[in-house]
Amino acid sequence: MRSRMVAASDTVFFSGHTMKVAGFFLLGLASVFSVQRDNFRTCDNVGFCKRHRALEPGTSSYAASASSMKLNPTSVSLDVLEKKSDVKFTLTIFGLKDNTFRIRLEEKDAMRKRYEPPVGDVLIKVPEGEELKYNGQSGNQLTFNKGTSRVVLTTEPLRIDVYSDDDPVISINSQGLLKFEHTRPKPEAPPAENQDEENKEEAQEGEEEQQKEEEVKEEEVKAEPEEPDMWEETFKSHTDSKPFGPTSIGVDISFPGVEHVYGIPEHADSLALKTTKTTDPYRLYNLDVFEYDLYNPMALYGAVPLMLAHNEKRTVGVFWLNAAETWVDISSNVADKSIFSNLADFVTGNNEIPQTDTHWFSESGVIDVFLMLGPGPKDVFRQYAALTGTTPLPPLFSISYHQCRWNYNDQDDVRTVDENFDKFDIPYDVIWLDIEHTDGKRYFTWDAAKFPNSIEMLRNISSKGRKMVTIVDPHLKRDDNYKVFAEARDKGLLIKNKDGGDFDGWCWPGSSGWPDFLEKHVRDWWADKFSASEYVGSAPNLYVWNDMNEPSVFNAPEITVNRDIKHLGGWENREVHNIYGMYVHEATMDGLLKRTNYQERAFVLTRAFFAGTQRTAAVWTGDNMGEWSHLKISNPMIMSLNLVGITFSGADVGGFFRNPDNELVTRWYQAGAFQPFFRAHAHLDTKRREPYLLPDENVKVIREAIRARYTYLPYWYTEFFTSEKDGAAVMRPLWVEFPKEKATFGIDDNYMIGSALLVRPVTDQGATNANVYFPGAGEVWYDVETYQTYKGQQEVNVQAPLSKIPVYQKGGTIIPRKMRPRRSSTLMFDDPFTLVVALDPKQEANGQLFIDDYRTFKYRDGAYGFIKYSFTSHKLHSNVEHQGSGFTTKEWLERVIVVGLPHEPRKVTLHQSGQTKELIFTYDSTTHVLIIRKPGVNILQNWTISLH
Ligand code: NOJ
Repeated sequence: MRSRMVAASDTVFFSGHTMKVAGFFLLGLASVFSVQRDNFRTCDNVGFCKRHRALEPGTSSYAASASSMKLNPTSVSLDVLEKKSDVKFTLTIFGLKDNTFRIRLEEKDAMRKRYEPPVGDVLIKVPEGEELKYNGQSGNQLTFNKGTSRVVLTTEPLRIDVYSDDDPVISINSQGLLKFEHTRPKPEAPPAENQDEENKEEAQEGEEEQQKEEEVKEEEVKAEPEEPDMWEETFKSHTDSKPFGPTSIGVDISFPGVEHVYGIPEHADSLALKTTKTTDPYRLYNLDVFEYDLYNPMALYGAVPLMLAHNEKRTVGVFWLNAAETWVDISSNVADKSIFSNLADFVTGNNEIPQTDTHWFSESGVIDVFLMLGPGPKDVFRQYAALTGTTPLPPLFSISYHQCRWNYNDQDDVRTVDENFDKFDIPYDVIWLDIEHTDGKRYFTWDAAKFPNSIEMLRNISSKGRKMVTIVDPHLKRDDNYKVFAEARDKGLLIKNKDGGDFDGWCWPGSSGWPDFLEKHVRDWWADKFSASEYVGSAPNLYVWNDMNEPSVFNAPEITVNRDIKHLGGWENREVHNIYGMYVHEATMDGLLKRTNYQERAFVLTRAFFAGTQRTAAVWTGDNMGEWSHLKISNPMIMSLNLVGITFSGADVGGFFRNPDNELVTRWYQAGAFQPFFRAHAHLDTKRREPYLLPDENVKVIREAIRARYTYLPYWYTEFFTSEKDGAAVMRPLWVEFPKEKATFGIDDNYMIGSALLVRPVTDQGATNANVYFPGAGEVWYDVETYQTYKGQQEVNVQAPLSKIPVYQKGGTIIPRKMRPRRSSTLMFDDPFTLVVALDPKQEANGQLFIDDYRTFKYRDGAYGFIKYSFTSHKLHSNVEHQGSGFTTKEWLERVIVVGLPHEPRKVTLHQSGQTKELIFTYDSTTHVLIIRKPGVNILQNWTISLH
C-alpha cells in the first residue's frame, strides 16, 4: 500500500498524519480513488514488450545445426544460429525425472553473463536427469524419446514439439516468435556539437579500448536496426540508463487441444486466464499497486511464472524460470473466435481442435523452461514441487484465526482486544502489530510510550497459547542513530544506485536504504536481527510479517526501485527484480528458526513472492477493498496461488480499504474461515471492526464461522502435512479433483479443500441463495450442517441466509474434527476427535489423520502419528500407519458421525485388542445420520467399530 504523491510541497499527509518531506507530498490513504494506472507502465511504454508484441507469427529466423549435436545420457545440445544477425546460441534439451523436460537457450560468447537464480534458491537442487534417447533424424526433424514422451526438434525453422503418448501437448516456437536480444556494444553516440576537444580525446581513448575488445564480436554480428528505447527508456520523470542495452528474450509456447490455462499469479483476475487480444499481456513484475483494479492483467505484488494448461485428457505445466519482468500474451482459437463472434463456424458447427497459444517474454535472463507433462493436475503439482519445493507443515496456530489491524495502538489496546475475544467467546490465535508499533518506523524497535513493556504483553497473550506478529519491512530509515541502518551501511550491505552510492528512496520512515537480500551474507546478517538479544522486547511467541518487499519505493518509477540500481553482486535490479522479495522473507524465516536452533517451526507472512516462496512464507493478496467484488475475487486469486505451490495463502478478511457494512464483513469471515490463511486486517483510516463490535446477529454468525474453522483444524493440518510431501494445492479448483468434468473448468466461486470438502462462499450482497456446482457423476455430497444430500454433476440453487456457509462433504470421505470450542488452537492440542464418516453410494468411505506436537520439527524425525480410516461392509477401521520416535498423544476419539446410513443399526460395537464393547448411539431416520458416542479409544490405536 502506498500514498499518492503530488507536486512540490514540503509537507506530507498520510493516514491522518503529517510529515515533512522534501519536494513532494503524500496524500491521505482513505481516498476514494481506484488504481492510478498512469503510475504503472503498460506494454506501450515498455520497450521490450512492444518489440516482442510486434513480432508477426511466421517463419522463425533461428535454425539449429544437426551436425553440432552433442548427445549426453540425459540431455542433448545443439548450436542455433539467428540468421539475420549471425549470432550463435546453444540449445539444450534435458530429460528430467517424472515426465519433465527442460529446454534452455543461451547466447554463445555473450559479452556479459546473464542472471540466473543460483541453484538452491529457486530450484531446490539440480533437477535429476533421466535418459533421453536419440531416435534418429528424418528430414529436418530430430527425435528424442523419454519414457512414453518424445521431443521432436525441427532444425529449420527452429521448433520444438513435445508429445505425450503420441499426443502433441506442448509446442515451442511453432509461431516463430522466438527472439533473443543478444548482448552488443553500445552504438557510438553522435558527437555532441559543443563537446570540447579534451572531452573528445578522453572519450576516444576509452572507446578505442572498448572497440578493440569488441572488434571480434562486431565482425560476427551483423548490424541490426536500433530502436529508440533500446539504450535508454524514460517513464514519467524517470530515465532508465540501460547501460547494457536490449537484453530481452521471448518465445511462443502453444498447447494443442487446450482451451483453459491457469496460474502465473499475481493478478486480480478470474482463475481461468483470459485471452489478451484486446488487453495488455499478463504482466509479472512485483509492484505495490494502490487500490488495485479487478479483472485485468496488471502486475501485482508477486510473480510465479508457472502456467498450467488443462483439458479433459491431461494437465501440463510450463515453468518459465526467469526473475526479470515478464509478460505473457494468451490467445485461443476458441475464445478469440467468440470475441469476434465467428458466426460462420458456429453455424456450420466447425469442429476444429481448440488450441491456446501463449507468448512469454522477459526483459533479461536466458530462456530456461521446464515442461511438466502431468498427465494429471496432481502429477504437475508433484513435478513442480520436485523443482521448487513445497510448503513445510505450518505450526497449528498459524492456520488458525489471526486478528490484525493497522494499528493496534498500544498495550492497552492489545489487552482489550484480547479480552474481548474471550468475553465474546470467539477463538483467535494471533494478534498483529503494524508499522505504528515501532519507534518511528525503525523495525525491530518499539514505540516506548505505547509499548513500554512488550515482553509483559507477549507473556499475557502467551498464557492463553496466543502469539503475536509484528511487521518488519525491508526499508531501513536513514538515521545514524538507528543501529540496524548504520550497521547495514557501514558493512556495505545496502543496494546501490547506478553510480555506486547507497540507493536512497522514500518509504514509511522517509529516506531509506534497502539491504541487498540477494547476498547470502546479508541474509545471514538480517537473520541475526531476530535473536532475543538483537530484537529487544521480542519473545519466542513473536513472529513476523514482511511487507513492502517488492520493494515498494514511493518516489521511484512504478513505486519500486529503478531498474538500473545495482545489487552487490553486480546485477541490475531489472535482472533480479521479481526474486528480491522472496529473499527478504527467506532471511526472516531463517532468523525466526535460528532463535530456537531450528527446533520450533515459525511463521512469516509476505506480500511479495516468487517461485519458491512457498518454502518459507505464507502470502496474502495485499491491499484489497472492503467491497463485494473483492470478496468474490479472493477465491480465484488464492486458488491461483495454490496452483503454483503457494498453498498457504489468503486475503485480508473484511477488505483492507473502506468500511464494509456488517453483512459484507460477516460474509467475508465465512469465506475466510474456509481459505488457507485466515486473517482479518484493516486500514488505519477505517472504522474499528473487530468481530465483537458488530451487532449481535453478526457476532453470532462470525463466531460460528471462526469456530467452524477451529473444528476443521485437524483436517486442514492433515492436508498441509500431505501437501508438504506432494506439493498439492490445499485449496483446489474443482477441476483438480474432477479433471474430466468440463463444466468445472471455468468455475471460480466453488472450490475444494483437499479431496473431501466443497465450499461455495456467498459473495453477493443481499444473497439468501447460492448456486452450488456439485461435481462428479455418481457422487453424493452432504451439507455439513443439515446432512441434506445432493447428487453430483449438477448445479443447485441452495438456501444461503446470512447464517449459512454452503459447505459440503463428499460421500466416500472421512474427516477428523475437534468440536470443543476453545480460546486458541494451542488449548486444543489434547482435545478429543470426532470422525465424520460420509458414505458414498456403495456405503464406503476413507480418510486420514496426521497428528504431532503441532509446533516443532520433530515430525521430520518420525515423531508423529498417521492414521488411515476406512469404512466398508458396515465396519469402520482405524489403522495406525505410522507412529514413530516414541510419539504418543493424549488425544482420543469422543464421537463418530456416520452420514448417509439408510437404516438404523441394531447394535454398535467396538473391537480392540481382542475385546468387544457395546457403544451408545442415536440414529436420525430423516437425515440418515448415526451418532456413536464415546468410543473413548486413544486416537493412535487400531480398532474397528461394527454396525450390526
Ligand atoms: C501495506 C500493507 O499491504 C498493509 O497490509 C499494511 O497495513 C500497510 N502497508 C502498513 O504497514
